[in-house]
This record gives sequence, structure tokens and C-alpha cells, in this order.
Amino acid sequence: MTTGIDVRHYDHHQAAELRPLLLDVYAEVYADAAATDPFATVERFAQGLDGWSRRPGWTCTVGYDGDQAVGYAYGAPLPAGAPWWGGLLTEVPADAVEETGTRTYALSELMVRVPWRKTGTARRLHDALLAERTEERATLLVDQEHPKVHALYASWGWTTLGDLRPRIPDAPLFHAMLLDLPQR
Ligand SMILES: CC(C)(COP(=O)(O)OP(=O)(O)OC[C@H]1O[C@@H](n2cnc3c(N)ncnc32)[C@H](O)[C@@H]1OP(=O)(O)O)[C@@H](O)C(=O)NCCC(=O)NCCS
Repeated sequence: MTTGIDVRHYDHHQAAELRPLLLDVYAEVYADAAATDPFATVERFAQGLDGWSRRPGWTCTVGYDGDQAVGYAYGAPLPAGAPWWGGLLTEVPADAVEETGTRTYALSELMVRVPWRKTGTARRLHDALLAERTEERATLLVDQEHPKVHALYASWGWTTLGDLRPRIPDAPLFHAMLLDLPQR
């Protein structure tokens, strides 16, 4: 049941205004992880958010229950020669990771506050974000220590390309996943 959840769309022009809301939701959703994992602190997340949301192609969907934000998703297209694929540990054909700037949309974050989990809200935020894209495919990274999240994405149609560890300090090992986007 997701009746009553209003999904709104934003782009990089609204990033500064949205920033406090995005950080508050992150701090709540990742409170346990941030307590033990240097990769998950709010400060690290804020750096990542600022990097992503500065990109002109950054887009974001936020779900609201009344005036309360309940979760969000965001991402941006990968630039040509994207560093995204730099930490790929699995051998794949070269053309699988060739970026043109318009080929692949990277879903960087998806999170929903606990009371709105298992309500279809996460899927709606995901679908609404990707529905507006013109790229041929999307990619995301999911922590290999979270097999249930990996399975959730697989159930939404994502396939696994291989193992990837971003070349940044404390980065965990991820599954790199891909999803074909409908062509217009
Ligand atoms: C991922 C998310 C948006 C999915 O929401 P949803 O569609 O309502 O699905 P659920 O919350 O039921 O998650 C599916 C399963 O994954 C598990 N799971 C979700 N996030 C998890 C995490 N960060 N670590 C470990 N397990 C996680 C859930 O416990 C659930 O397991 P269960 O079926 O045994 O209860 C939501 O769980 C969330 O915000 N998680 C925290 C942030 C996160 O991990 N985002 C994904 C980054 S790739």
C-alpha cells in the first residue's frame, strides 16, 4: 500500500535546497552503520552527495507522506571514461564498461525510512527516477554483505555484472549491477 505517498522530482538546480533533508534522512537510515563503519558516516555521505549533486545531470525523487520525507533515490549519468568502473575486479568485455556520457545512468542512492519499508515506496522511488531517463541502461553498486538487498534488486530486473571495489579509502566490496532501460 503506497496510497498517500507523493513522489516529487528534482534536479541539480534544487540540490542545495534539498541537501539538509537528504542528510537528515541519511543520518536516520544509516545511524547503525555510521556508528561502526567509516565509509558510512554522515560526513562521508555529504561529500559524496555534494559530488553527485553538482553534476548537471543529477536527478532525485523524494517520497512524502504529507509533509514528511520518507525516502529518496538519486543518481546521474556516467561521464565518458567514468571512474565508476575503475574498481571492477571481474573481467568483462571492454564494451561492457565503455561510457559515452549518455549511455548509462548511475543510481547512486536509494533509501527509505523504516516505517515506510515493505510498502512499495522504495520501488516507486526507483521506478519514478528511472522512468525519466533516456540512457540505454542503469547501473548501481550493492554491498556484498547485504545479500537481501542484492536479491531485492535482482527481483526488480537488475543483473549482476561482477565484483567492484571503488578505489577510495574504506570502500566495501560491491556487486556491480545493470538494468536495461526502455528505449524511447
Ligand atoms: C533498500 C531499501 C530502500 C528497500 O526497501 P523495501 O523495498 O521496502 O525493502 P526492505 O526494506 O524490506 O528490504 C528488503 C530486505 O533487505 C534487507 N535490507 C535492507 N537494507 C539493508 C541493509 N542496508 N543491510 C542489510 N539488509 C538490508 C531488509 O532487512 C529486508 O530483509 P527481510 O526481507 O528479511 O526483512 C530499504 O531497505 C533501505 O532503505 N535500506 C537501507 C538503505 C540501503 O541499504 N539502501 C540500498 C543501497 S544499495
